[in-house]
Amino acid sequence: MFEHIKDENNNFKNLINGEWISSASGKFIDINSPLDNSLLGRVPAMTQEEVNIAIETAKEAQKKWRNITLNEKVEILYKSADILLENIDELSELMMMEIAKDRKSCRSEVSRTADLIRFTADSAKNLSGESIPGDSFPGAKNNKVSIVRREPLGVVLAISPFNYPINLSASKIAPALMVGNSVVLKPATQGSLSGLCLARIFEEAGVPKGVLNTVTGRGSEIGDYVTTHKGINFINFTGSTGIGARISKITSMVPLLMELGGKDAAIVLEDADLELTASNIVAGGYSYSGQRCTAVKRILVVDKVADKLIEKIKENMAKLTVGNPLEKDADVVPLISTKAADFVYGLIEEAKEKGADLVVGGKREGNLIYPTLIDNVTTDMRLAWEEPFGPVIPIIRVKDKDEAIEIANKSEYGLQGAVFTQNINDAFYIADKLEVGTVQINNKTERGPDNFPFLGVKSSGMGTQGIKYSLESMSRPKATIINLSIK
Ligand code: NAP
Ligand code: G3P
Repeated sequence: MFEHIKDENNNFKNLINGEWISSASGKFIDINSPLDNSLLGRVPAMTQEEVNIAIETAKEAQKKWRNITLNEKVEILYKSADILLENIDELSELMMMEIAKDRKSCRSEVSRTADLIRFTADSAKNLSGESIPGDSFPGAKNNKVSIVRREPLGVVLAISPFNYPINLSASKIAPALMVGNSVVLKPATQGSLSGLCLARIFEEAGVPKGVLNTVTGRGSEIGDYVTTHKGINFINFTGSTGIGARISKITSMVPLLMELGGKDAAIVLEDADLELTASNIVAGGYSYSGQRCTAVKRILVVDKVADKLIEKIKENMAKLTVGNPLEKDADVVPLISTKAADFVYGLIEEAKEKGADLVVGGKREGNLIYPTLIDNVTTDMRLAWEEPFGPVIPIIRVKDKDEAIEIANKSEYGLQGAVFTQNINDAFYIADKLEVGTVQINNKTERGPDNFPFLGVKSSGMGTQGIKYSLESMSRPKATIINLSIK
């Protein structure tokens, strides 16, 4: 299945106009495994000329693709989901090596993605337009009817992050294709081998040549060029707030859909079910070492129950498995890079130096940071505000729900928040006041089910994803007005 997307030296190629093309310049980037540093392959460091060809190809191919019937598009997406599942073993193994995610989570990412692709096809079948009579507007006569349909935007640039290389690529590609756009996928460099395999799957399923193209290369080198390219009509980016802000600054008149960083708070009130709260916090904060945008990234707990909560969290943390996914299905795995591990460790050290209390963890072996819980974190510490993208959760003690809301909302981020309480009035009071895209009541912060709207406010993003919402974001209304001549 994946043989012809690379050569005998493990140099991967890009999908351009239906062909797998090697690097024209001969420049490649090594992709090493964060698990054992083995060389998994090399991807082309594409030049501006190569990027031009990918985008121009997409532009041309979109003209035909937009007119392919919805039924045919649905069939292609269904087939993509089937092929994805047929290759779950190979893909999960590659993903595990490439981004150091444990095998079980890799497999669930692949099967979740197959479900997402099918649901996207089904939802697109149910998109419909409307006809609007003009005579409801003051002064208008009854001779006008607006027929509103949805039409594609053109070429969608999909930029995905390292942590969900299959899911966060497919969740952009599938809706873009269903509403008649063509796509240029720029996967995260660490994650690009998985991204290229995904493109191969869509190709095998029958996506016509030129409709899906891939671009590889470091974002720091080709990112500005790709995002400001005249041929791009829409950008769907998932990644850090810093890069997202840069894209929104340098682009002009191109709609953006961005899912960025987060600092999701779990707010715990006095009457919370502490068993439930602790198990949710541990699962939400430490799985895949906290390298999830929606990970629980801080606990704001009412002081009166803080000690009890900490005991329960400790019990749950003791059940976490830690280590190299090559050896076991670990919850906490080595971080994606030494730079990431240095950053997370630095946040822990700074909090300790400023007087926070290390409750569990704080240990580091190479890029593996042990699950860490830190109590009495105060608002003058970086850990109170910065996104670690690692397995560390700070506890900030508060006097009541209003102080929790105040601190939660002081964050530059606004992805999700969780409230643990048995009082529905308090739950709604807090949900109403939190400046975030989603509030979870008595559950960890998380994106799914993937048909729910998913969005960040403030520095956590712009626009709304989630299957139906992504389809709408990647298409626009087109009105055709019938003017009847009524005598
Ligand atoms: P990242 O460093 O921002 O990279 C994301 C993507 O942007 C990669 O494909 C990267 O390519 C590319 N890129 C880098 N510089 C660019 C530029 N100047 N122009 C255009 N593209 C550029 O993020 P990451 O480390 O992969 O992922 C972690 C971050 O993503 C965290 O902050 C996390 O919260 C966020 N995230 C958010 C969500 C969400 O839905 N809200 C989901 C997942 C992750 P290279 O790999 O080649 O640099
Ligand atoms: O960080 C990726 C984002 O899509 C989160 O998904 O399922 O881990 O909440 P999930």
